[in-house]
Amino acid sequence: MQVIRSQILLFLCQLSCSSSIGTRYTPDWASLDSRPLPEWYDEVKFGIFVHWGVFSVPAFGSEWFWWNWKGAQNPNYVQFMTQNYPPEFSYADFAPNFHAQFFDPDEFADIFAASGAKYVVLTSKHHEGFTNWGSPNSWNWNSVDNGPHRDLVADLGTAIRKRDLHYGLYSTLYEWFNPLYMSDKQSGFKTQQFVENKVMPELYNLVNRYKPDLIWSDGDWEAPDTYWNSTGFLAWLYNDSPVKDVVVTNDRWGVGCSCKHGGYYNCADKFTPEQLPNHKWEKCQSVDVRSWGYRRNMKLYDLMDLPTIIKDLVYVVALGGNYLLNVGPTAEGMIAPVFEERLRGIGAWLQVNGDAIYATKPWRVQTENATVPVWYTSKHSTVYAIFTSNPMQNTFMLLAPQTSYSTVVTLLGNPEPLKWAPLQTSGLIVLLPDLPFSPAKAWTLKLERVA
Ligand SMILES: *[C@@H]1O[C@H](CO)[C@@H](O)[C@H](O)[C@H]1NC(C)=O
Ligand SMILES: *[C@@H]1O[C@H](CO)[C@@H](O)[C@H](O)[C@H]1NC(C)=O
Repeated sequence: MQVIRSQILLFLCQLSCSSSIGTRYTPDWASLDSRPLPEWYDEVKFGIFVHWGVFSVPAFGSEWFWWNWKGAQNPNYVQFMTQNYPPEFSYADFAPNFHAQFFDPDEFADIFAASGAKYVVLTSKHHEGFTNWGSPNSWNWNSVDNGPHRDLVADLGTAIRKRDLHYGLYSTLYEWFNPLYMSDKQSGFKTQQFVENKVMPELYNLVNRYKPDLIWSDGDWEAPDTYWNSTGFLAWLYNDSPVKDVVVTNDRWGVGCSCKHGGYYNCADKFTPEQLPNHKWEKCQSVDVRSWGYRRNMKLYDLMDLPTIIKDLVYVVALGGNYLLNVGPTAEGMIAPVFEERLRGIGAWLQVNGDAIYATKPWRVQTENATVPVWYTSKHSTVYAIFTSNPMQNTFMLLAPQTSYSTVVTLLGNPEPLKWAPLQTSGLIVLLPDLPFSPAKAWTLKLERVA
């Protein structure tokens, strides 16, 4: 009787309760990993990553500037400093020049919305430790007391949410030169002063103040998750935090966690799997392939062009991933026009082809190359075949789809259904119209009622 009653309750709950009711997660990976990923994340597919901090002031090399200069003592960085700054100039001296005087959060949000992205992830704190909000645990090393004298996390968040985009926050666990971290490290991570006095208070502060939809953790790789107390934080986040039902997390929560524990998987930066992974994942990629932060010594040939970005997006979505594309704003608070042009180009492509991206699922076949390479996505019995090179002929062969009498084939952006004929064993041949001009060099065949 007891068993039956609880099964009935469980059944009723599946019908009407939100998934979180009744589930308490315990601070261990078996429990935390069993949490279903909030649905919005798989549907949105495309987000913008924003790396912004004091590193945007020297804007040289990459956002790892401080480390390259003082940690690795890379000669390029050492020389850049000796040639351009007085000898006693410290990294902290860059902060007052993080003015962000042209920063208009609504303008940022307009550009991001125009790109077709559905979520934005801002670096609230990168490995330099400078917080883009007034963290009480980061005295004078935060954007309210220093630099812009603004709460960048709040200001961007408000603008992003006005446009109905999801707002995520990147936060690093480790900080290269934080004395508390260095002392814990010296103890072989047996002490947790840094975690107690900096990492945890700041994570809780971020979540309670800004209610992010996503936490993008990083900088986990030098110490185990037991040092970081990651499972304790995640259990609170999933059970009791103000975002417990919507928040999504990644997988960087301690040595060996990446690609294995947490919410979705980032695995390595720019993760590029060859086959369909069996867990939700995200590829983060930067328009400037050599840096996540803005750098003044960026060259045009270091930038992904629009067709390359679209190809990457399409490949990622076909393999079940999300695509998080990064731009680094300048210290003055501008998004370089060349980045803006890329983002608006993606949006223009998604205006026509977004049906083949948003809220799709991977299909039973991910790719084939009978005419030119295609990537497949699907929604129920509709299959999208996206191709990123012009076949230069008016027939297009697809071998994988199984057609029926009621199959309808269209080219997205072209009003008329297309003529097609089944092939002998499986697949079809489609008569293409003249392809519409596409600066992204990518088009979509939509196949309705195929298997
Ligand atoms: C770690 O998390 C536990 C809860 O799981 C908590 O009791 C403890 O105080 C936390 N320690 C730190 C250093 O945050
Ligand atoms: C697709 O097929 C063509 C012709 O067979 C070949 O030249 C090309 O390299 C293939 N592309 C991919 C990505 O496999």
